[in-house]
Amino acid sequence: MNVTTENEITATAAFDVMRYRADFPILGRHVHITSKSPGRQLVYLDNGATTQKPQQVIDAITHYYSHYNANIHRGVHALSQEASAAYEAARETVAHFVNAASAQEIIFTRGTTESVNLVAHAWLRSRLNAGDEVLITAMEHHSNIVPWQLVCEEKGATLKVVPVNDNGELDYEAAAALLTSRTKLFAFTHVSNTLGTVNDVQRLTAMAHAQHIPVLVDGAQAAPHLRINVQELGCDFYCFSAHKTYGPTGIGMLYVRGELMREMQPYQGGGGIISHVTFEKTTFVEGPLRFEAGTPNIEGAIGFAAALDYMNAVGLPAITAHEHDLLTYTTAQLEQIEGMRIIGTAPCKAGVISFVVGNLHPYDVGTILDQQGVAVRTGHHCTQPLMQRFGVPGTVRVSFGLYNTRSDADQFITALHKALKMLA
Ligand code: ALA
Repeated sequence: MNVTTENEITATAAFDVMRYRADFPILGRHVHITSKSPGRQLVYLDNGATTQKPQQVIDAITHYYSHYNANIHRGVHALSQEASAAYEAARETVAHFVNAASAQEIIFTRGTTESVNLVAHAWLRSRLNAGDEVLITAMEHHSNIVPWQLVCEEKGATLKVVPVNDNGELDYEAAAALLTSRTKLFAFTHVSNTLGTVNDVQRLTAMAHAQHIPVLVDGAQAAPHLRINVQELGCDFYCFSAHKTYGPTGIGMLYVRGELMREMQPYQGGGGIISHVTFEKTTFVEGPLRFEAGTPNIEGAIGFAAALDYMNAVGLPAITAHEHDLLTYTTAQLEQIEGMRIIGTAPCKAGVISFVVGNLHPYDVGTILDQQGVAVRTGHHCTQPLMQRFGVPGTVRVSFGLYNTRSDADQFITALHKALKMLA
């Protein structure tokens, strides 16, 4: 993300990263410990895949199991009341985090992937006919491609794709041309997990809404880095996963603008979503519970809320500015390396750097980095069509979190030089 305001620059200077690092017990560990070696200090730069968890999140989950574990919305007893209240309070926390108009617009899901599938089945499927189109972009994660592809195949509809340019930016003019009366939904990512590009959600949403086309935004890689305001963005659906925002795995959110929530039909049957069941007919509750069949991930919701509280306490503008500093600092050093090709050079980026060096296989580079304690992701990053667009089988990807430091970046660069020497 471009740092342009004085406030954001001040936020970087004041960012006490060592204080936050102390909240994450895992960051103190060594990897590759053997009987002969103390191993290597972990340098964790794979935050795009998942983030580490602060003690506050671990404690919130432990406290739930030690003090008030019970099923929710089903019991008159004290523990059930406490667990139900905590689960619904978590929904409020998520709603505030994205500035939704109401907690009734927030559905808990297993994560971003389930959120996209939910919209595909509970909203789009009954509206899609042969000849219709769903528009996505060339920088989507497989989870924002495959669910739409499956529904399109079933209904005889077509998946259309907005291209990206050589910098890894969307072609906004092409997007405008591809939005037509046949388009039933425009689904795109807020931040690319591979390129780091931050898309102009407001602009894309306005283009779609001008033609009354609803918009889904995959926020999995944006929520950890940027302040999210769904009312300002104007989108109809927005989703992200807790584990990328310092919370637990197996839980995420789907924001659905109130009006559309009322149009959606349950796509999974079960307990907890009904108002009355007979063998002839079932009627359903209104609101998000309608889409949360079965016992939900209660500990996950509680941990999710603790993680968002943690991020709010650190402050989103400060996180954005700190990660931007790491992005520019590391990019400048990478650019000095012979044969370096950074994939994704948009002016507006989050803290993600994908690269290849000469003909070296990303897996080999990643393996040697790992031997030195540096954790990065290698491969296609679940964006195979994007890899094809750039003509590479995969990349090495560094992705920053709020607890990373310039020293992490230096250790990564030193380890990379060693890897390149070994592979030369
Ligand atoms: N979607 C996650 C990533 O980009 C797993 O690594």
